[in-house]
Amino acid sequence: MANRSERLLDMRGLTLAVATGEGLLTVVEDLSLTLDAGETLGIVGESGCGKSLTSLAIMGLLEGTPVRVLAGEILFQGRDLLRLPARERRAIMGNEMSMIFQEPMTSLNPVYRIGDQIVETIREHRKISKSAARQRALELLTMVRIPDPAGRLDSYPHQLSGGQRQRVMIAMALAGSPRLLIADEPTTALDVTVQAQILKLIVDLQAETGMGVMLISHDLGVIAETCDRIAVMYRGRVVESAASAELFSAMRHPYTRGLLDSIPEADEDVDRLTAIPGRVPMLDEALAGCAFHPRCTRAGKGCDEVVPGLDMIAPSHLVRCHYPLEQDA
Ligand SMILES: Nc1ncnc2c1ncn2[C@@H]1O[C@H](COP(=O)(O)OP(=O)(O)OP(=O)(O)O)[C@@H](O)[C@H]1O
Ligand code: SF4
Ligand SMILES: [Mg+2]
Repeated sequence: MANRSERLLDMRGLTLAVATGEGLLTVVEDLSLTLDAGETLGIVGESGCGKSLTSLAIMGLLEGTPVRVLAGEILFQGRDLLRLPARERRAIMGNEMSMIFQEPMTSLNPVYRIGDQIVETIREHRKISKSAARQRALELLTMVRIPDPAGRLDSYPHQLSGGQRQRVMIAMALAGSPRLLIADEPTTALDVTVQAQILKLIVDLQAETGMGVMLISHDLGVIAETCDRIAVMYRGRVVESAASAELFSAMRHPYTRGLLDSIPEADEDVDRLTAIPGRVPMLDEALAGCAFHPRCTRAGKGCDEVVPGLDMIAPSHLVRCHYPLEQDA
């Protein structure tokens, strides 16, 4: 079971930039996050704020992309992934941490049976016979609560529903018994009912295995129901972070407030991003001061000139704002 005090991840000052013809554009700036075993950390923010790049940096998957690590440390169980010899780093990436992505169809090979794909993944992690791996595949499919797991081993991806395919992807992510699971928008492509089932599955598996889970979503509603702690990102920076209960009872950042107000009611059909006026600035738009100022109703003196620091306003509650909301807002 989880040793809750075990610090799995300690990211310090991570700064990422994209190399373009005109030079380097910063996409993630001075990002610090921690995650303990047995804990679920939610990362939330609108499209383009740097959520996926942060997770790819943790997973060591930025190689071959135009994205560069400019600064920072990513300590995993005390060892800096960015400075480990490549072999040690690959061993950690392959076994100790795992990631699930938004669209399971793109990660499953349509021409191979589900069972064969899971067996292959298992055998990348463990040197075991094909029949032992098939037994383990069955265990994994059972673990992710797929109906008729034995029958499903022989199915092709197109024979499964979207929710079942995502369960298969989760089973494959668990093949190496990872300590850290990163789920990047794992339910965005699913309808609301299936979304809730998959989130519950992730929560249950987290409790069963004691993994640390990083759950990424643009939807604060998804994060709210699932996570112990939440970090809200805007344009590459954390703007507020706190325990979930604290964040919802005493949110202090205008952007967090905007995200909360944009969660649609169950029977409402609205584009949730329109609730915050304006749009996320483009990467190459030079913006002095707080990056949220063109959209912020509270913007005041200095907001368009000075980048606010990330201040601790209560134990474990950090806010980056010159004029934070009142406590009872
Ligand atoms: N390979 C790349 N080349 C150039 N720019 C990139 C690349 N990958 C990401 N970016 C840019 O970096 C910024 C952060 O991207 P990232 O994918 O991390 O956003 P995100 O928060 O995951 O968004 P979404 O919610 O849409 O998934 C975006 O502005 C994006 O356009
Ligand atoms: S620093 Fe200013 S512009 Fe930025 S969120 Fe706070 S009040 Fe709004
Ligand atoms: Mg993303």
